[in-house]
Amino acid sequence: MRGAARPLPYSGRLPVPASEDFQVTLWVLQEMIFRPFQGVDPRWEDEASAVALRGLLERAQEAELRTNLFCPPTAAQDVPEAIKQMVTGNEGPSLSRWVEEHGRLAHMREFVMHRSPYQRKEADPHSFAIPRLDAGRAKSALLKIQLDEYGNAEAGQSHAELFAETVRALDVRPDIDCVPAVTLRTNTVLNTFGSSRRLRGACIGHLAVFEMTSVEPMARYAATLRRLLDGDTATKAARFYDVHVAADGFHQELALDEMLTGFVEQYPNEAEEVLFGAAAIMSVEGDFSRHLMQRWEKGTSSLRSRAAALAA
Ligand SMILES: [Fe+2]
Ligand SMILES: [Fe+2]
Repeated sequence: MRGAARPLPYSGRLPVPASEDFQVTLWVLQEMIFRPFQGVDPRWEDEASAVALRGLLERAQEAELRTNLFCPPTAAQDVPEAIKQMVTGNEGPSLSRWVEEHGRLAHMREFVMHRSPYQRKEADPHSFAIPRLDAGRAKSALLKIQLDEYGNAEAGQSHAELFAETVRALDVRPDIDCVPAVTLRTNTVLNTFGSSRRLRGACIGHLAVFEMTSVEPMARYAATLRRLLDGDTATKAARFYDVHVAADGFHQELALDEMLTGFVEQYPNEAEEVLFGAAAIMSVEGDFSRHLMQRWEKGTSSLRSRAAALAA
């Protein structure tokens, strides 16, 4: 197709990307690619109007992020260091520190509920970047990271399955209706980055920050669960977090030294997209952390329905 993309078949006003209507709609449209919804005709996945609406919402959210996030012009070879600085200089709220210091079992159960939409299919959205990269250092490093995420092809060891064990140990019943827009947004932004070849750089930047900001928080969540639970239940609940402490120590180096460095060498014209993806995850995760801590400091639930929360 030459020239500008065709306008999408919608002329009304969209809700703002942070709103519940926007996030629930986009999340449902994106999630159909990963798994079916009970009672929904699977053909909706690629029905033209659903695809068009998904594209419209994804572009609106992307445009809003690009407007609000400042990514200073950076030479391609300096992007890995810039991302390192972005991560180490982040003075945003630390949810894991709050949980370690003040968290009760009810908070951990809520936290697990929030993370369920992502972690029950952990690593899948980033995997969409694999066929969008040419063979080379970045693709090899991405594959190494993803293989670990899938448990090195060993049944029962994928991070998604380990998370399911945590869910069972904490007796949480994941319920998407309890998950607020601020949480859905952490998913819809990533799903968007994974859905387009044009955004492969943003997907790589997102994954790099994801890996580079994991080890300490995961260690704190594991320690919190051991403080709150006993014996076998503590071991089972904490295993997902323990595994990440070990795996992500390796992944963060691989992500920075191989994946990011390889990507900007191979695609220098897309280096700033990597920064955009990195800034985007930091922004939406910062909003997510603030939301949880603000609610918990007030003594209220961070979920949409209080009935399903703080029930421990
Ligand atoms: Fe993982
Ligand atoms: Fe990882």
